[in-house]
Amino acid sequence: MSLKHSYTLISPFYDAALTAATRAQRARSLAGLPSTPARVLLSGVGTGLDLPLLPQQHSYTGIDLTHAMLRRAMPRAAQLDFCCVQGDAQRLPFADRSFDHVILHLILAVLPNPFACLEETARVLVPGGSVLIFDKFLQTGQWAPLRRLVNPMVRRVATRLDVVFEELLDKTPQLVMESDQPALAAGWFRLIRLKRV
Ligand SMILES: C[S@@+](CC[C@H](N)C(=O)[O-])C[C@H]1O[C@@H](n2cnc3c(N)ncnc32)[C@H](O)[C@@H]1O
Repeated sequence: MSLKHSYTLISPFYDAALTAATRAQRARSLAGLPSTPARVLLSGVGTGLDLPLLPQQHSYTGIDLTHAMLRRAMPRAAQLDFCCVQGDAQRLPFADRSFDHVILHLILAVLPNPFACLEETARVLVPGGSVLIFDKFLQTGQWAPLRRLVNPMVRRVATRLDVVFEELLDKTPQLVMESDQPALAAGWFRLIRLKRV
């Protein structure tokens, strides 16, 4: 089953499972957006759980692979300058330096190739732009046997459980760490802010 197919099946239940559990951490992450108007990309925007938390002065683009997820996002953007695109976060259909900030909430650990997503994020960002990440990552060298055991099954239908963020960042020298804070589940979920150099 492809991720597009599985997220089509998951879409009616996604909000019930994720809204309350993630709202406070989303708000913490999005507080990193500046006050001056900017172009902001939400990569893997999903059902748009971030949208009601976004300030109105920016222009927003949301991209997602799954039409059923995007369809749920649209009504949440009524108060925003928002457009959405169906496409692949690993091969963004945008020109170099088209955005000032990129939001990667619960997408890097989902993708088969998170490195490509981070590279594409760096490509479409202006120098000085920022990346706001909220996701689950293993620490370098962390054993996590249960997560590694079930990973081959769940990675095909929902998310990977074996992504080590530092390994991605090492391969993306255009992006540098600005902050890294524990979020949920004893630091399995993290709030990370990167800067495009
Ligand atoms: C766990 S959900 C996260 C959605 C949203 N960012 C959030 O924070 O709730 C993962 C999303 O990634 C999307 N997705 C999966 N593969 C993708 C890809 N290659 N490119 C863009 N989106 C993708 C899925 O359709 C789904 O909407």
